[in-house]
Amino acid sequence: MRIISGIQPTGPLHLGNYLGAVKNWLELQRNKNNECFFFIADYHSLTENFEPKEKYNQILEISAELLALGLDPGKSILFIQSQVPQVTELAWIFNCITPISFLERMTQYKDKSQRQSQNVNAGLFTYPVLQAADILIYRGEAVPVGKDQVQHVELASDAAKFFNNRFGEYFKIPKAILTQTPKIMSLLKPDKKMSKSLGADHCIFLSDSPAEIERKIKKAVTDVGPAKNQKLTTNNQQPVMSPGVSNLFLLLENFGDAKDVKKFLDDYRAGAIKYAELKEVLAKRITDYFSDFRKKKEALLKNSEKISAAYSQGSKKAQKIASKTLGEVKRLVGLRK
Ligand code: ADP
Ligand code: TRP
Repeated sequence: MRIISGIQPTGPLHLGNYLGAVKNWLELQRNKNNECFFFIADYHSLTENFEPKEKYNQILEISAELLALGLDPGKSILFIQSQVPQVTELAWIFNCITPISFLERMTQYKDKSQRQSQNVNAGLFTYPVLQAADILIYRGEAVPVGKDQVQHVELASDAAKFFNNRFGEYFKIPKAILTQTPKIMSLLKPDKKMSKSLGADHCIFLSDSPAEIERKIKKAVTDVGPAKNQKLTTNNQQPVMSPGVSNLFLLLENFGDAKDVKKFLDDYRAGAIKYAELKEVLAKRITDYFSDFRKKKEALLKNSEKISAAYSQGSKKAQKIASKTLGEVKRLVGLRK
């Protein structure tokens, strides 16, 4: 199966990005039946407010992070979106077959237009069309993304269907593959998803130092504990976990071992949990989990030619496929004989 996914270079990766996206990419890469394409969506990242002086470093940093996590240019095609300019040509053709009303429905567009009300640019609006081109130019079939991106993958399926209806059967219809992991919530506002747009203290970045991880987790919102203030669910009479606590348990399930989870769940059910203790264990587990990653990332950033080489090799392969698709599309559309 041909798998495609991208991530925007807008800052260092946090635990939400890892559990919601990249971890799944690593699993897909492991399966030899998959042909994986993973890329840095730098063109998409220009739709948000950005600092030109920082952009290149953001691209380099996330490129290094993906390699340090184990994405392997020998197994997957890793590339930078803007190094395959054919995708913008296909996006233009898709722009001309996508109804505006479909784009107006996109919840991310509505959210971001409010968040960056001074910068509601046309790119922000047609962003899902470029995403459709990203997927279809490589004839992608499956797109591993988090829940927030499902609507965009559906738009890519719509674009493929519009194209096939108008110009003849050509594209396969792509589908989203959802990760099993539920959303990771902010440490400080656990009713909101962990996102760098909330601020650095809401997130744990994979490259945070052990001291930083400990400091952030210590500040994470919990509750007064189920023994006091106990709310009961109607069916199983278990205390209802507050969002902050359930987020910490979710992290412990992912980065700790089964013994840790059992111990703290038992304590929690008995109304005897000590959050300071849970936080200490969790901070240690996250620190250990990413210790190898931190070293690899640092080493790669000291040798940025190695990073560029890994991605330019992938960009060349991607270009070849993209050119072929674009040539065939231009013929079908009537731009070429
Ligand atoms: P951010 O909100 O920090 O800017 P992005 O929107 O760039 O993150 O998300 C990049 C990828 O990570 C997407 O595939 C998205 O689904 C996933 N992702 C982002 N935040 C979370 C989260 N809190 N929990 C799970 N997955 C997430
Ligand atoms: N829009 C995606 C995000 O913000 C990134 C992205 C761009 C993407 N093109 C894609 C994801 C194609 C999957 C497939 O996370």
